[in-house]
Amino acid sequence: MSITTRIEQGVLTIGFDRIDKKNAITAAMYQTMADALRDAEGSNAVRVIVIEGKPEIFTAGNDLEDFMKRPPTHDEGGAPAPVFQFLHAISHATKPVVASVSGAAVGIGTTLLLHCDLVYASDTARLSLPFVQLGLCPEAASSLLLPRLVGYQRAAEKLLLGEAFSAQEAHAMGLVTKVLPAAELADHVRQQAAKLAALPASSLRETKRLMKGDDTPAVEKKMAEEGEVFRRMLLAAEAKEAFTAFFEKRKPDFSKFD
Ligand code: COA
Repeated sequence: MSITTRIEQGVLTIGFDRIDKKNAITAAMYQTMADALRDAEGSNAVRVIVIEGKPEIFTAGNDLEDFMKRPPTHDEGGAPAPVFQFLHAISHATKPVVASVSGAAVGIGTTLLLHCDLVYASDTARLSLPFVQLGLCPEAASSLLLPRLVGYQRAAEKLLLGEAFSAQEAHAMGLVTKVLPAAELADHVRQQAAKLAALPASSLRETKRLMKGDDTPAVEKKMAEEGEVFRRMLLAAEAKEAFTAFFEKRKPDFSKFD
């Protein structure tokens, strides 16, 4: 099983569980997460959602083999690709979403944090947005939300260069709520989730809606725009070179592309 889900005392925990592939996310894993988030919306048993990885790694982002073999589209037999269903579900979640990040959080592992309410990271966390390095462009409305959250220049550095940055830097930028020693992360997340689960659900819902509701149309529009460009770039030669280089364990050579 590559995604685990469990509900305990009002808290739905969605966990990445594919450690041999560094928790890289396949279409099937996106589907499981999208379904879990959708079910949580309608379930009285769920008051809070936690997304966690493993102590060694949060996630290496989208599975690159999947990207090559099955580029996601907005219309796969009538339904959007699982990744788009997941992004829609997390960006429309009305219940609090808490992230627990330890180790690397690559690509969507970082952009999904922009849709969480509380982001707790261990001091081992390394975030990165290597879309340009892969010949791609940002997704999950990160080209809108990141500059808005951290300022254009800081967002540009992270999105244009794609280099990994520390949990401390992410905290200083406002992308991470709090940084904790690795050994304390899981307990802290559990405590914070339990606090949320004990609060009035309607107040949490309304407060979240008041903070985020006005942004929803702009987020949807940006996600759709990014999705179109992303798909085009996924099929282009630059991405092919980047993905092939990753699996051949060599540096990509972009010098032949304009
Ligand atoms: N998609 C598919 N497979 C992946 C993967 C991904 N995103 N990330 C890692 N893997 C696989 C590797 O191919 C390797 O498989 P193998 O053992 O069959 O050779 C295994 O997971 C271990 O990865 P490895 O690179 O050896 O681990 P590492 O500890 O040296 O580095 C990362 C970890 C996360 C820094 C590195 O794997 C990485 O950069 N992954 C790609 C991240 C990425 O570009 N994601 C897409 C963002 S849009």
